[in-house]
Amino acid sequence: MQSETPITSPRHVAIIMDGNGRWANARGLPRTAGHRAGVERVREAVRTAAEAEIEYLTLFAFSSENWNRPEQEVSDLMGLLRFFIRRDLAELHRENVCIRVIGCRQTIQPDIRALLNEAEERTRGNTGITLVIAFNYGARDELVRAVRQIAEAVRSGDMDAASIDEAALASRVDTAGIPDPDLVIRTSGEQRLSNFLLWQAAYSEFVFLPCLWPDFDRAAFLEALAEYGRRDRRYGAVSAPDLAVGS
Ligand code: FPP
Repeated sequence: MQSETPITSPRHVAIIMDGNGRWANARGLPRTAGHRAGVERVREAVRTAAEAEIEYLTLFAFSSENWNRPEQEVSDLMGLLRFFIRRDLAELHRENVCIRVIGCRQTIQPDIRALLNEAEERTRGNTGITLVIAFNYGARDELVRAVRQIAEAVRSGDMDAASIDEAALASRVDTAGIPDPDLVIRTSGEQRLSNFLLWQAAYSEFVFLPCLWPDFDRAAFLEALAEYGRRDRRYGAVSAPDLAVGS
């Protein structure tokens, strides 16, 4: 019998929550109904991740490309984020969840910026799971912003171009201080990264699930973790058993 929790939990799981629209379409409902159902799965996923002793859970809530959706859908998604923070912040805080937000904060509505700032400030000292909300996030935009900071440091003489290394970039991307994701999950059957964590996912394991995000329950999450547990991570090296065969 397969054990319910994996032997080695990843430290950091990142999820592309895809398929809300198709879930709603299949039921003859407006796309917003799919997003609304998706928010309930967000709550469940945070709980399951905490239970599985995952230290960081990153959720792709709104991409920098999602502004291209119909105005009504964008407005509904903004409303849902407001609803989520207002409804769940107190509970997440009580559950010792620390919230971090990644993405470009400059170009979002001031009230949402204030809510996200409040969520971060209020939960900063919490020592449980860190919930990283990727909002108005695009990995290329993140990299451009980080490179711009480095260019500024070189221009002002605070940094020597020859000293630019991986650590210099890693400390300037939005996830600075957060370990790279061990596992990236994408629901809905699509198998692409869609401008998500391009720098950080260099050595991540990927699990693509056919289920749509509003159907992603605790069992589906645990199955993805079990699949991760079966992977052999080599980071460009050779695994120990393969070395033994050659010796
Ligand atoms: C992709 O489904 C999902 C999104 C663009 C938004 C995800 C947002 C939520 C789950 C709710 C808000 C999140 C938080 C953290 C409160 P899609 O619309 O692309 O689905 P489709 O591919 O089937 O059309």
